[in-house]
Amino acid sequence: MNKAAIYPGSFDPMTLGHLDVIKRASKMFDRLIVSVLNNKAKNSLFSVEERVSILREATRDLPNVTVDSFNGLLIDYAREKDIHISVRGLRAITDFEYELQIAQTNRKLSQGMLDTVFLTTSLEYAYLSSSSVKEIAAFNGDISQCVPDFVAKLVHEKFKNIN
Ligand code: PNS
Repeated sequence: MNKAAIYPGSFDPMTLGHLDVIKRASKMFDRLIVSVLNNKAKNSLFSVEERVSILREATRDLPNVTVDSFNGLLIDYAREKDIHISVRGLRAITDFEYELQIAQTNRKLSQGMLDTVFLTTSLEYAYLSSSSVKEIAAFNGDISQCVPDFVAKLVHEKFKNIN
């Protein structure tokens, strides 16, 4: 059986924590689509195209991983792709309530067609979030422990242009 899953998220920008989830999920499924939500309501640092391109570069050695983007509801996107599993990372108990709500909403809305699989984040990345990466970088702090080197460069360039 060809088991596929979607890993949806904002990925603004992708962190080492996201990459850890991608690598582990890619071993569990035959095919993994990492998909960036095009959320116009969210004020993002990177455009959807830039986020997709970062993810593509970071996953170029993972042959069963593809990167895409989507608009609207995850269940509609999953239906279009004929995929029935969403993957999400859980860092701490603080993520749980939010993630539980999304997972249950998606299962209800899709009439059981979209289920969610949670991967607990590796301990060394438990503290990481895209928001903290942006906050550290905004004050020119060191983000080399949080994102791959090429992403750190891109984030710092963004803030140089903003400031
Ligand atoms: O990286 P994020 O921002 O925590 O990811 C959240 C995401 C993209 C998984 C979630 O917001 C989502 O799936 N949005 C699409 C809209 C949707 O399907 N909403 C219904 C579930 S509440």
